[in-house]
Amino acid sequence: MELTREEEEMLKGKYGEASAKALEAIIAVGESVGAPRLIPIKHAHISGVSYGTIGEPGALFLEKLASMGARFRVPATVNPIGYDPEVPDGYGYLRITRDFVEGQSRILKALRKMGAELELTCTPYYVDTFEKYDLRVGDSVAWGESSAVAYANTVLGLKTNREGGPLALLAAIAGRIYLYGLHDDANRMPQVSYDISKFPRVDEAVLGVLAEFLAEVHEDDFPPMIEGVANPPDYYIREFAAAIGAVGSLAMAVIPGVTPLPAKPSTRRKLDVPWDVIRRSLSDKEPTSKPDVIFIGCPHASYAELTIIDRYLRKEADIPILVTLSRSVYQKAKNTGLAASLERKGVKFLRSTCLIVSRSKPLKVATNSMKAYFYLSKKMPEVSLAPLTDLLRMASR
Ligand code: F3S
Repeated sequence: MELTREEEEMLKGKYGEASAKALEAIIAVGESVGAPRLIPIKHAHISGVSYGTIGEPGALFLEKLASMGARFRVPATVNPIGYDPEVPDGYGYLRITRDFVEGQSRILKALRKMGAELELTCTPYYVDTFEKYDLRVGDSVAWGESSAVAYANTVLGLKTNREGGPLALLAAIAGRIYLYGLHDDANRMPQVSYDISKFPRVDEAVLGVLAEFLAEVHEDDFPPMIEGVANPPDYYIREFAAAIGAVGSLAMAVIPGVTPLPAKPSTRRKLDVPWDVIRRSLSDKEPTSKPDVIFIGCPHASYAELTIIDRYLRKEADIPILVTLSRSVYQKAKNTGLAASLERKGVKFLRSTCLIVSRSKPLKVATNSMKAYFYLSKKMPEVSLAPLTDLLRMASR
């Protein structure tokens, strides 16, 4: 691989052992996929930081890196952890032991030492301070949370492949990633479009199930283009982005009017998505009985979404509603009185975590997130999927 002088020096240890090792690993992965060179990144987002996910081996790995002197060369944000330090038992929904808290604290200490910003969210783009990174359409970043990766490419116009948590971490230390995949404009242009303009409805549950359909049928390496989604609220697209990364392996979709592209796309094939297939899958997933809890905020909820919940919930909900979100969005809602209004209606907030990366008790869960549906179905006795507005209607009966 062709390296710059600075990269050669980093490899020889000019910036410390940790930077050299990080760069070596990135070059090895880059060479294995035939990348011609490295490119600088402006930001990294590191996933896989919950003690519930990475456990003791992950904690030891991070501590070792920090003690080797590893420091992030670019701003780095971090995914949710295993619990909300303000409500460690998650209102009784979580099973968090003292060992867990200790392990999680060691992970955070190591990340802080390396220079991470500990907002602890999978939606770093909703955090107040996100603007300070001065990220612009076309900038390359290294993000390691599949939902955020797909949102970055699809909505923000940032370029990132779907990096594993460790690789995003190493990229933050080296300040580089290899030129490959979605960092190349040519690979961001869709070749096949999927038309959903004849669907009788479009919402985040429909788009979640569409992601499942795409995982089955979309075969090329270019992002699929979705036509017929008119003025979608941001949370529809966020849920769609999360779903394409969870039920499949896509890291980007193109939505006209939403996705910034370097040129006008011209696709070679256009397919109508059969509504019947989507409808059947939706009805298989609908709630059939009263859930123990309605789970909103996978990925972490936006402020706009909280206003929708507040508007739809006219009285106290008779099903508990659990919303996971970043500390920053929660703080904004607290400052404006929105959080208090929602809490009066029975909404419970968990910051910095979610039901998937934590250790939760067995529950009957209803959610508007296809990603949450996909993962919780593996660990909960019963999970159902419906759009946010339907869930709120169910909770207000
Ligand atoms: Fe975020 Fe947890 Fe979902 S990390 S994307 S809320 S699985």
